[in-house]
Amino acid sequence: MKHTGIYIHIPFCKRKCFYCHFVKGEYDAETVEKYTDALVNEFRIKANDNDGSNTIDTIYIGGGSPSLLNEQQVSKIVNGLYKYFSIAANPEFTVEVNPEDVAPAKLKSLRNAGINRLSIGTQSFVPADLHYLKRTHSVQQSLAAVENALDAGFSNINIDFIISLPTQTQKTLANNLSVLERINIPHISAYILEEVEEGEEKNLRDEALYFFTAAYLNSLGYIHYEVSNFSKKGSQCRHNLKYWENKDYIGVGLSASGYEKGSDYKNTENLEEYFVKVNAGCLPRAEVNRGDANFRGIVVGLRLLEGIPVTYFEKYPGELELLLTNGFLIRQGNNIAVAPEKILLLNEILTYFVPAT
Ligand SMILES: C[S@@+](CC[C@H](N)C(=O)[O-])C[C@H]1O[C@@H](n2cnc3c(N)ncnc32)[C@H](O)[C@@H]1O
Ligand code: SF4
Repeated sequence: MKHTGIYIHIPFCKRKCFYCHFVKGEYDAETVEKYTDALVNEFRIKANDNDGSNTIDTIYIGGGSPSLLNEQQVSKIVNGLYKYFSIAANPEFTVEVNPEDVAPAKLKSLRNAGINRLSIGTQSFVPADLHYLKRTHSVQQSLAAVENALDAGFSNINIDFIISLPTQTQKTLANNLSVLERINIPHISAYILEEVEEGEEKNLRDEALYFFTAAYLNSLGYIHYEVSNFSKKGSQCRHNLKYWENKDYIGVGLSASGYEKGSDYKNTENLEEYFVKVNAGCLPRAEVNRGDANFRGIVVGLRLLEGIPVTYFEKYPGELELLLTNGFLIRQGNNIAVAPEKILLLNEILTYFVPAT
Protein backbone atom coordinates (compact mmCIF):
# COMPACT_ATOMS: atom_id res chain seq x y z
CA MET A 1 0.00 0.00 0.00
CA LYS A 2 1.39 3.38 -1.03
CA HIS A 3 1.10 6.35 1.31
CA THR A 4 0.10 9.76 0.09
CA GLY A 5 -0.84 13.15 1.54
CA ILE A 6 -3.84 15.37 0.90
CA TYR A 7 -3.90 19.18 0.95
CA ILE A 8 -7.26 20.96 1.27
CA HIS A 9 -7.44 24.69 0.58
CA ILE A 10 -9.87 27.01 2.41
CA PRO A 11 -9.75 30.26 0.43
CA PHE A 12 -11.47 32.70 2.79
CA CYS A 13 -10.19 35.34 5.20
CA LYS A 14 -11.91 37.94 7.33
CA ARG A 15 -9.55 40.55 5.92
CA LYS A 16 -6.97 40.15 3.20
CA CYS A 17 -3.41 40.94 4.27
CA PHE A 18 -1.67 43.30 1.83
CA TYR A 19 1.44 41.10 1.56
CA CYS A 20 -0.25 37.72 1.02
CA HIS A 21 -0.25 36.00 -2.36
CA PHE A 22 -2.30 32.95 -1.39
CA VAL A 23 -5.65 32.59 -3.15
CA LYS A 24 -8.46 33.80 -0.89
CA GLY A 25 -11.66 35.84 -0.91
CA GLU A 26 -13.53 37.63 1.84
CA TYR A 27 -15.45 35.48 4.30
CA ASP A 28 -19.15 35.11 3.56
CA ALA A 29 -21.12 32.52 5.55
CA GLU A 30 -23.26 31.31 2.65
CA THR A 31 -20.32 30.93 0.24
CA VAL A 32 -18.27 29.05 2.84
CA GLU A 33 -21.16 26.61 3.37
CA LYS A 34 -21.47 26.07 -0.39
CA TYR A 35 -17.70 25.66 -0.65
CA THR A 36 -17.58 23.01 2.10
CA ASP A 37 -20.17 20.95 0.18
CA ALA A 38 -18.19 21.41 -3.02
CA LEU A 39 -15.02 20.15 -1.30
CA VAL A 40 -16.77 16.94 -0.28
CA ASN A 41 -18.03 16.65 -3.85
CA GLU A 42 -14.46 16.98 -5.09
CA PHE A 43 -13.40 14.21 -2.65
CA ARG A 44 -16.05 11.96 -4.23
CA ILE A 45 -14.98 12.78 -7.80
CA LYS A 46 -11.34 12.24 -6.88
CA ALA A 47 -12.10 8.94 -5.14
CA ASN A 48 -13.86 7.63 -8.27
CA ASP A 49 -10.88 8.71 -10.34
CA ASN A 50 -8.43 6.83 -8.07
CA ASP A 51 -7.25 3.27 -8.48
CA GLY A 52 -7.69 2.84 -4.72
CA SER A 53 -4.07 1.86 -4.11
CA ASN A 54 -3.30 4.85 -1.89
CA THR A 55 -3.68 5.27 1.84
CA ILE A 56 -3.60 8.83 3.12
CA ASP A 57 -1.28 9.29 6.06
CA THR A 58 -1.00 13.10 6.12
CA ILE A 59 -3.82 15.62 5.86
CA TYR A 60 -3.24 19.38 5.73
CA ILE A 61 -6.05 21.95 5.74
CA GLY A 62 -4.51 25.29 4.80
CA GLY A 63 -5.62 28.65 3.53
CA GLY A 64 -6.73 31.30 3.63
CA SER A 65 -8.08 30.90 7.10
CA PRO A 66 -9.43 27.41 7.85
CA SER A 67 -10.09 28.53 11.44
CA LEU A 68 -13.13 30.43 10.08
CA LEU A 69 -14.88 27.10 9.45
CA ASN A 70 -17.47 26.23 12.06
CA GLU A 71 -17.67 22.89 13.88
CA GLN A 72 -20.23 21.42 11.44
CA GLN A 73 -18.14 22.41 8.42
CA VAL A 74 -15.00 20.82 9.91
CA SER A 75 -16.98 17.63 10.64
CA LYS A 76 -18.35 17.60 7.09
CA ILE A 77 -14.80 17.74 5.70
CA VAL A 78 -13.45 15.11 8.11
CA ASN A 79 -16.40 12.76 7.49
CA GLY A 80 -15.99 13.28 3.75
CA LEU A 81 -12.31 12.37 3.95
CA TYR A 82 -13.06 9.16 5.84
CA LYS A 83 -15.97 8.30 3.53
CA TYR A 84 -14.13 8.69 0.24
CA PHE A 85 -10.49 7.87 1.03
CA SER A 86 -8.62 5.17 2.82
CA ILE A 87 -7.04 6.95 5.80
CA ALA A 88 -4.11 5.42 7.69
CA ALA A 89 -4.48 4.60 11.39
CA ASN A 90 -2.62 7.61 12.81
CA PRO A 91 -2.52 10.28 10.15
CA GLU A 92 -0.72 13.53 10.80
CA PHE A 93 -3.67 15.94 10.54
CA THR A 94 -2.77 19.64 10.46
CA VAL A 95 -5.01 22.71 10.35
CA GLU A 96 -3.77 26.27 9.91
CA VAL A 97 -5.35 28.70 12.35
CA ASN A 98 -5.30 32.46 12.90
CA PRO A 99 -4.65 33.30 16.58
CA GLU A 100 -7.75 35.51 16.85
CA ASP A 101 -10.07 32.70 15.73
CA VAL A 102 -9.25 30.02 18.24
CA ALA A 103 -11.15 30.26 21.50
CA PRO A 104 -10.71 27.22 23.80
CA ALA A 105 -14.03 25.66 22.67
CA LYS A 106 -13.00 25.85 19.01
CA LEU A 107 -9.65 24.21 19.77
CA LYS A 108 -11.34 21.40 21.69
CA SER A 109 -13.74 20.79 18.81
CA LEU A 110 -10.83 20.64 16.34
CA ARG A 111 -9.03 18.16 18.59
CA ASN A 112 -12.21 16.06 18.97
CA ALA A 113 -12.57 16.01 15.18
CA GLY A 114 -9.24 14.16 14.96
CA ILE A 115 -6.96 17.07 14.12
CA ASN A 116 -3.64 16.49 15.91
CA ARG A 117 -1.35 19.24 14.60
CA LEU A 118 -1.92 23.00 14.56
CA SER A 119 -0.09 25.65 12.60
CA ILE A 120 -0.72 29.00 14.29
CA GLY A 121 -0.13 32.18 12.26
CA THR A 122 1.47 34.24 15.02
CA GLN A 123 3.88 36.05 12.61
CA SER A 124 5.70 37.85 15.45
CA PHE A 125 5.56 38.44 19.20
CA VAL A 126 6.49 42.11 18.72
CA PRO A 127 3.55 44.58 18.54
CA ALA A 128 5.32 46.88 16.03
CA ASP A 129 5.75 43.96 13.58
CA LEU A 130 2.07 43.01 13.83
CA HIS A 131 1.18 46.66 13.32
CA TYR A 132 3.32 46.83 10.16
CA LEU A 133 1.65 43.66 8.86
CA LYS A 134 -1.76 45.15 9.77
CA ARG A 135 -2.68 41.91 11.48
CA THR A 136 -5.97 41.74 13.36
CA HIS A 137 -4.51 39.77 16.29
CA SER A 138 -2.37 40.86 19.24
CA VAL A 139 0.69 39.28 20.85
CA GLN A 140 -1.57 38.33 23.79
CA GLN A 141 -3.95 36.49 21.45
CA SER A 142 -1.03 34.53 19.97
CA LEU A 143 0.24 33.52 23.40
CA ALA A 144 -3.29 32.56 24.47
CA ALA A 145 -3.76 30.54 21.26
CA VAL A 146 -0.61 28.50 22.03
CA GLU A 147 -1.58 28.00 25.66
CA ASN A 148 -5.18 27.05 24.82
CA ALA A 149 -3.97 24.68 22.11
CA LEU A 150 -1.75 22.89 24.64
CA ASP A 151 -4.69 22.76 27.07
CA ALA A 152 -6.93 21.31 24.35
CA GLY A 153 -4.46 18.44 23.94
CA PHE A 154 -2.37 19.59 20.97
CA SER A 155 1.28 18.80 21.51
CA ASN A 156 2.28 18.97 17.86
CA ILE A 157 2.22 22.72 17.18
CA ASN A 158 3.88 24.95 14.61
CA ILE A 159 3.99 28.69 14.67
CA ASP A 160 4.57 30.86 11.62
CA PHE A 161 6.99 33.75 11.83
CA ILE A 162 7.67 36.37 9.19
CA ILE A 163 11.19 37.74 9.24
CA SER A 164 13.01 40.51 7.42
CA LEU A 165 10.28 43.04 8.20
CA PRO A 166 11.21 46.75 7.96
CA THR A 167 10.29 47.05 11.66
CA GLN A 168 12.74 44.31 12.69
CA THR A 169 16.24 44.76 14.03
CA GLN A 170 18.49 42.03 15.37
CA LYS A 171 17.56 43.20 18.88
CA THR A 172 13.78 43.08 18.38
CA LEU A 173 14.13 39.77 16.58
CA ALA A 174 16.12 38.35 19.50
CA ASN A 175 13.33 39.45 21.89
CA ASN A 176 10.80 37.93 19.53
CA LEU A 177 12.59 34.58 19.31
CA SER A 178 13.29 34.49 23.03
CA VAL A 179 9.56 33.92 23.63
CA LEU A 180 10.05 30.51 22.04
CA GLU A 181 12.36 29.42 24.81
CA ARG A 182 9.44 29.74 27.23
CA ILE A 183 6.64 28.27 25.10
CA ASN A 184 8.90 25.48 23.83
CA ILE A 185 6.77 24.18 20.95
CA PRO A 186 8.17 21.56 18.55
CA HIS A 187 8.05 23.38 15.19
CA ILE A 188 8.73 26.86 13.78
CA SER A 189 8.31 28.15 10.24
CA ALA A 190 10.23 31.38 9.64
CA TYR A 191 9.39 32.94 6.28
CA ILE A 192 11.29 35.82 4.79
CA LEU A 193 8.72 38.46 3.80
CA GLU A 194 8.21 38.10 0.09
CA GLU A 195 7.82 41.21 -2.04
CA VAL A 196 4.46 42.78 -1.50
CA GLU A 197 1.95 43.84 -4.14
CA GLU A 198 2.61 46.48 -6.75
CA GLY A 199 2.15 49.98 -5.30
CA GLU A 200 2.80 48.82 -1.73
CA GLU A 201 6.03 49.19 0.12
CA LYS A 202 8.76 46.92 -1.23
CA ASN A 203 10.96 45.10 1.17
CA LEU A 204 14.57 44.08 0.66
CA ARG A 205 15.55 40.66 1.89
CA ASP A 206 17.65 40.97 5.02
CA GLU A 207 19.87 37.90 4.89
CA ALA A 208 21.55 38.76 8.19
CA LEU A 209 18.20 38.50 10.01
CA TYR A 210 17.55 35.13 8.37
CA PHE A 211 20.90 33.67 9.46
CA PHE A 212 20.50 35.24 12.89
CA THR A 213 17.12 33.46 13.20
CA ALA A 214 18.60 30.14 12.11
CA ALA A 215 21.46 30.41 14.62
CA TYR A 216 19.12 31.50 17.43
CA LEU A 217 16.68 28.64 16.81
CA ASN A 218 19.59 26.23 16.60
CA SER A 219 20.77 27.42 20.03
CA LEU A 220 17.26 26.60 21.36
CA GLY A 221 17.57 23.03 20.06
CA TYR A 222 15.66 23.41 16.78
CA ILE A 223 17.03 21.58 13.76
CA HIS A 224 17.03 23.64 10.57
CA TYR A 225 15.69 21.01 8.18
CA GLU A 226 14.25 23.05 5.31
CA VAL A 227 14.89 26.60 4.02
CA SER A 228 12.13 28.09 6.23
CA ASN A 229 11.46 25.26 8.67
CA PHE A 230 12.87 24.30 12.04
CA SER A 231 11.84 21.50 14.36
CA LYS A 232 12.75 19.70 17.52
CA LYS A 233 14.11 16.20 16.84
CA GLY A 234 11.41 13.96 15.30
CA SER A 235 8.86 16.76 14.90
CA GLN A 236 9.31 17.66 11.23
CA CYS A 237 6.05 18.23 9.38
CA ARG A 238 5.43 14.85 7.74
CA HIS A 239 3.01 16.36 5.22
CA ASN A 240 5.34 19.09 4.01
CA LEU A 241 8.21 16.59 3.85
CA LYS A 242 6.20 14.87 1.11
CA TYR A 243 6.55 18.01 -1.04
CA TRP A 244 10.29 18.19 -0.55
CA GLU A 245 10.88 14.46 -0.87
CA ASN A 246 9.15 14.53 -4.26
CA LYS A 247 6.36 12.24 -3.08
CA ASP A 248 2.77 12.17 -4.26
CA TYR A 249 0.09 14.32 -2.67
CA ILE A 250 -3.48 15.09 -3.63
CA GLY A 251 -4.64 18.72 -3.82
CA VAL A 252 -8.29 19.59 -3.24
CA GLY A 253 -10.03 22.97 -3.32
CA LEU A 254 -9.71 26.29 -5.07
CA SER A 255 -6.18 26.82 -6.46
CA ALA A 256 -4.87 23.71 -4.72
CA SER A 257 -1.99 21.93 -6.39
CA GLY A 258 -1.09 18.26 -6.29
CA TYR A 259 1.49 15.85 -7.62
CA GLU A 260 0.51 12.34 -8.59
CA LYS A 261 2.14 9.67 -10.73
CA GLY A 262 4.69 12.09 -12.20
CA SER A 263 2.20 14.87 -13.02
CA ASP A 264 1.85 18.25 -11.34
CA TYR A 265 -1.60 19.77 -11.40
CA LYS A 266 -3.29 22.91 -10.20
CA ASN A 267 -6.97 23.63 -9.66
CA THR A 268 -8.69 26.72 -10.99
CA GLU A 269 -8.34 29.96 -9.03
CA ASN A 270 -11.81 31.11 -10.09
CA LEU A 271 -14.41 30.29 -7.44
CA GLU A 272 -17.41 30.32 -9.83
CA GLU A 273 -15.58 28.01 -12.24
CA TYR A 274 -14.65 25.79 -9.29
CA PHE A 275 -18.33 25.40 -8.27
CA VAL A 276 -19.48 24.81 -11.87
CA LYS A 277 -16.87 22.12 -12.58
CA VAL A 278 -17.20 20.26 -9.29
CA ASN A 279 -21.00 20.32 -9.37
CA ALA A 280 -20.85 18.92 -12.92
CA GLY A 281 -18.76 16.00 -11.61
CA CYS A 282 -15.43 17.13 -13.10
CA LEU A 283 -12.10 17.65 -11.37
CA PRO A 284 -11.56 21.44 -11.38
CA ARG A 285 -8.11 21.36 -12.94
CA ALA A 286 -6.66 24.54 -14.47
CA GLU A 287 -3.49 22.78 -15.62
CA VAL A 288 -1.73 19.42 -15.62
CA ASN A 289 1.96 19.17 -16.48
CA ARG A 290 4.26 16.24 -16.81
CA GLY A 291 7.74 17.64 -16.31
CA ASP A 292 11.20 16.17 -15.89
CA ALA A 293 10.88 14.10 -12.68
CA ASN A 294 14.61 14.20 -11.98
CA PHE A 295 14.75 18.00 -12.24
CA ARG A 296 11.64 18.27 -10.05
CA GLY A 297 13.36 16.09 -7.47
CA ILE A 298 16.35 18.45 -7.43
CA VAL A 299 14.19 21.60 -7.22
CA VAL A 300 12.13 20.44 -4.25
CA GLY A 301 14.81 18.28 -2.61
CA LEU A 302 17.60 20.84 -2.36
CA ARG A 303 15.32 22.83 -0.05
CA LEU A 304 16.12 20.17 2.56
CA LEU A 305 19.30 20.89 4.48
CA GLU A 306 20.12 17.16 4.49
CA GLY A 307 20.04 17.22 0.67
CA ILE A 308 19.21 14.46 -1.79
CA PRO A 309 20.98 11.35 -3.10
CA VAL A 310 23.90 12.00 -5.42
CA THR A 311 22.13 9.83 -8.05
CA TYR A 312 19.89 12.83 -8.87
CA PHE A 313 22.95 14.51 -10.40
CA GLU A 314 24.02 11.69 -12.77
CA LYS A 315 23.03 13.80 -15.78
CA TYR A 316 25.01 16.79 -14.51
CA PRO A 317 28.59 15.67 -13.64
CA GLY A 318 30.22 18.95 -14.78
CA GLU A 319 27.71 21.23 -13.05
CA LEU A 320 27.91 19.19 -9.84
CA GLU A 321 31.71 19.33 -9.78
CA LEU A 322 31.70 23.09 -10.39
CA LEU A 323 29.18 23.78 -7.62
CA LEU A 324 31.03 21.48 -5.19
CA THR A 325 34.40 23.04 -5.97
CA ASN A 326 33.00 26.54 -5.45
CA GLY A 327 31.38 25.61 -2.15
CA PHE A 328 27.74 26.10 -3.18
CA LEU A 329 26.98 22.40 -2.78
CA ILE A 330 28.44 19.99 -0.25
CA ARG A 331 28.60 16.21 0.11
CA GLN A 332 26.89 14.69 3.16
CA GLY A 333 27.47 10.93 3.01
CA ASN A 334 25.60 9.76 -0.11
CA ASN A 335 23.69 13.03 -0.32
CA ILE A 336 24.36 16.33 -2.01
CA ALA A 337 23.11 19.41 -0.17
CA VAL A 338 23.30 23.16 -0.52
CA ALA A 339 25.97 24.56 1.82
CA PRO A 340 23.94 26.06 4.71
CA GLU A 341 25.51 29.50 4.27
CA LYS A 342 24.47 29.47 0.57
CA ILE A 343 20.88 28.31 1.12
CA LEU A 344 19.40 31.66 0.08
CA LEU A 345 21.12 31.25 -3.30
CA LEU A 346 19.06 28.13 -4.00
CA ASN A 347 17.22 29.61 -6.99
CA GLU A 348 20.50 30.61 -8.62
CA ILE A 349 21.98 27.15 -7.92
CA LEU A 350 18.97 25.46 -9.53
CA THR A 351 19.56 27.27 -12.82
CA TYR A 352 22.53 24.91 -13.39
CA PHE A 353 20.16 21.94 -13.65
CA VAL A 354 17.38 23.26 -15.87
CA PRO A 355 16.83 20.53 -18.48
CA ALA A 356 17.40 21.46 -22.12
CA THR A 357 14.11 21.82 -24.01
C1 LIG B 1 -1.22 31.57 3.88
S1 LIG B 1 -1.08 31.83 5.58
C2 LIG B 1 -2.39 30.91 6.26
C3 LIG B 1 -2.46 31.02 7.76
C4 LIG B 1 -3.33 32.12 8.33
N1 LIG B 1 -4.28 32.64 7.45
C5 LIG B 1 -2.50 33.25 8.87
O1 LIG B 1 -2.23 34.20 8.14
O2 LIG B 1 -2.17 33.19 10.03
C6 LIG B 1 0.34 30.87 6.01
C7 LIG B 1 1.54 31.69 6.34
O3 LIG B 1 2.12 32.23 5.17
C8 LIG B 1 2.99 33.26 5.57
N2 LIG B 1 2.94 34.33 4.55
C9 LIG B 1 1.87 34.83 3.93
N3 LIG B 1 2.24 35.80 3.05
C10 LIG B 1 3.59 35.90 3.11
C11 LIG B 1 4.58 36.71 2.48
N4 LIG B 1 4.26 37.64 1.56
N5 LIG B 1 5.87 36.53 2.80
C12 LIG B 1 6.23 35.60 3.71
N6 LIG B 1 5.35 34.81 4.36
C13 LIG B 1 4.04 34.95 4.08
C14 LIG B 1 2.53 33.75 6.94
O4 LIG B 1 3.52 33.46 7.90
C15 LIG B 1 1.29 32.89 7.20
O5 LIG B 1 1.14 32.52 8.55
S1 SF4 C 1 -4.99 35.92 7.07
FE1 SF4 C 1 -3.37 34.52 6.31
S2 SF4 C 1 -4.15 33.69 4.37
FE2 SF4 C 1 -5.46 35.44 4.93
S3 SF4 C 1 -4.60 37.13 3.79
FE3 SF4 C 1 -3.64 37.14 5.84
S4 SF4 C 1 -1.75 35.91 5.60
FE4 SF4 C 1 -3.04 35.49 3.82
